[in-house]
Amino acid sequence: MNQQIACLDQRVRSYSPLIMDTKGPALETINKLADENHSFDIIFLDANKDQYWEYYQVIMDRGLLAPRGTIVVDNALFFGQVYSATRDTNGEGMKTFNENVSRDPRVTTVLVPIRDGVRLIRRDEDMLAKRLAD
Ligand SMILES: C[S@@+](CC[C@H](N)C(=O)[O-])C[C@H]1O[C@@H](n2cnc3c(N)ncnc32)[C@H](O)[C@@H]1O
Repeated sequence: MNQQIACLDQRVRSYSPLIMDTKGPALETINKLADENHSFDIIFLDANKDQYWEYYQVIMDRGLLAPRGTIVVDNALFFGQVYSATRDTNGEGMKTFNENVSRDPRVTTVLVPIRDGVRLIRRDEDMLAKRLAD
């Protein structure tokens, strides 16, 4: 397995020096990227759903999503659990995430009901620059 991962790492790196291959808990990685002042036009979320709201807050509050950038969120329906009476921790996390994002005035968002649901979130304006200017 480690050999397969090493081989994949090498292939990923060979595509472009712009590609960073980082391993570790996602919340730590996201905060490290913010510490290094990175900013992205597109961010794809597809990890543990119970921390999505935490990931989102760091992404938005620490400037990781560029102005007019888009976050693409997989499994936004989480196998129907977001609208079911019973759900596990990931289903609960996705429900909370969907509800909170829908109320965030910084973004325009739509849930596309294909397969397991894809939520698209666009940052409407550069709130970070606005905040820094204040
Ligand atoms: C659904 S898979 C992602 C599949 C990937 N998007 C692809 O197309 O190959 C979810 C991945 O997130 C990883 N993951 C889950 N929780 C994580 C966390 N807290 N930090 C980092 N990675 C995590 C899992 O190990 C798994 O590899």
